[in-house]
Amino acid sequence: MIFKKKIITFSALAFFVLFGVAAVKVNFKERNLKVLPKDISDARLDSIMQTYNTALGVSCNFCHVPMKNIPDSLDYYSDAEPMKENARKMMKMVIDINKKNFYFYPEQRPEYLNTVSCKTCHRGEHFPPED
Ligand code: HEC
Ligand code: HEC
Repeated sequence: MIFKKKIITFSALAFFVLFGVAAVKVNFKERNLKVLPKDISDARLDSIMQTYNTALGVSCNFCHVPMKNIPDSLDYYSDAEPMKENARKMMKMVIDINKKNFYFYPEQRPEYLNTVSCKTCHRGEHFPPED
């Protein structure tokens, strides 16, 4: 009896572990990227996002809304925070400036050029000061 119970418990656990891992994988694969390349690596995406924090003097939640029901986590996929769309417009502008003026090597991706970057104008402020 006890042995049987253990097998059931184990199968249930195995099921949830496998199912859970599959669900997480699907979430990570599908991305809501309209400006950055869809095949961007996690590392590069992360480092670009870090530069936004530094350049604007904000945290990730400036553009990303909190995840429902999961405390202390952000829903990076969601477009519910209007600041995210503001940022997309800025990203397109910066890609455009770099592509037109600082694009010297065809093997580079214009989206990853950073001669002009957010920091160039923002210098640590989300609303750049006029001086
Ligand atoms: C100034 C606004 C801004 C800040 C600050 C910001 N992000 Fe983002 N983030 C964006 C935008 C805009 C996109 C969508 C880019 C696109 O459409 O190509 C995005 C996309 C993402 C994605 C991809 C989501 C998906 O659909 O798969 C992740 C992950 C992410 N951000 C993580 C972060 C993290 C972590 C931080 C803090 C270190 C951060 N972001 C800070 C604007 C921001
Ligand atoms: C050429 C200068 C310049 C560059 C480069 C630039 N910005 Fe901006 N950004 C501005 C100005 C100026 C404003 C204020 C706009 C206004 O007056 O309505 C602004 C406003 C914003 C806002 C709205 C802030 C708020 O509080 O309303 C966000 C978000 C933003 N920029 C993100 C970015 C990101 C992300 C990058 C890099 C991809 C970037 N910007 C690059 C000049 C720039």
